[in-house]
Amino acid sequence: FMVDKGNRRHFMEKEIHEQPEVISHTLAHYVDFVSGVSKPLELPFDFARIGRLALSACGTAYLAGLISKYWFERYARLPVDIDVASEFRYREMPLSANDAAFFISQSGETADTLASLRYCRQAGMKIGAVVNVRESTMARESDVVLPTLAGPEIGVASTKAFTCQLSVLAALAVRAGVARGTISRDEERQLVRELSEAPRFATQVLKLDEQIERISRELSRYKDVLYLGRDTNFPLAMEGALKLKEISYIHAEGYAGGELKHGPIALIDENMPVIVIAPHDRIFEKTVSNMQEVAARGGKIILITDAKGAAQAGIKTMETIILPDVPEIISPIIYALPIQMLAYFTAVFMGTDVDQPRNLAKSVTVE
Ligand code: G6P
Repeated sequence: FMVDKGNRRHFMEKEIHEQPEVISHTLAHYVDFVSGVSKPLELPFDFARIGRLALSACGTAYLAGLISKYWFERYARLPVDIDVASEFRYREMPLSANDAAFFISQSGETADTLASLRYCRQAGMKIGAVVNVRESTMARESDVVLPTLAGPEIGVASTKAFTCQLSVLAALAVRAGVARGTISRDEERQLVRELSEAPRFATQVLKLDEQIERISRELSRYKDVLYLGRDTNFPLAMEGALKLKEISYIHAEGYAGGELKHGPIALIDENMPVIVIAPHDRIFEKTVSNMQEVAARGGKIILITDAKGAAQAGIKTMETIILPDVPEIISPIIYALPIQMLAYFTAVFMGTDVDQPRNLAKSVTVE
């Protein structure tokens, strides 16, 4: 069937705006919003019986996996090994046939990810494929298909597939926690309720497009941008930098807040905006210290936070984007949106080919 842009300028813009709907659709495949529990799912292994979960993927899918490592370890006390597929397949790591491996891929065809899947298969591991294309090679070669229901994604820079991957992985982390006895039935209901709020919050965040467009106009004047975040906002910082460089060709890096002192602080001046992703969470104060370090060196800060964070930061920022106060488990899903919108509008101001950036392919089927 035909996929068109509707009334949007680019597929990427359309796909960003589809997120409330496709996140809802994807979550509903894994959890029951009414009863607040995980839906039945035939897994070829038992989360309670594995010692470790291996994850591998490329690009944006890898960063979704990296965020989920925090979830699996936090909610299910399940250790996660994760690597980009091009390293995973060659680094001769010890693998156990008693463990499971998930491969995350929009297309289900990425060469390195597929090779990593086959490598784990050889090692006798149970294989899950978190894929958006159900007829893909990875889906066929896995023991269980864990679909993202994002619908066709045309823009080369992944947006809705990413937040749907996060939705699947969050739901699986909750399921793993229940199986491993680290989440009670009450906590499960609470977490499922929180997951179910993601589409509504996403809709609210999309309404910030005018402010984000204005900030992007400013951002398009710079040559380098640094993204900082801690906890799940660290992989999200890397995703923000990846999105920006992919489609606007502005050089960007994503760093863990705590690593600022170990290198990137040398680059801070008025010519490099710093985008800080910092909801008011357990480690907010630590990120405030990082912002003080940046501000003291004349760095310009764009802070993405919530109302409480904005009130308590006590820092003069260039801009503050205030998101709704969201539960911890859905925070990466919701904070992904302003990150995507910043990259999108900046690329539009730069006049690049947003949906088909130079040198990149939607699906990389050769090594
Ligand atoms: C390419 C795309 C990225 C994507 C990556 C992995 O580099 O440009 O947007 O994240 O491949 O693709 P996959 O289909 O495996 O998710």
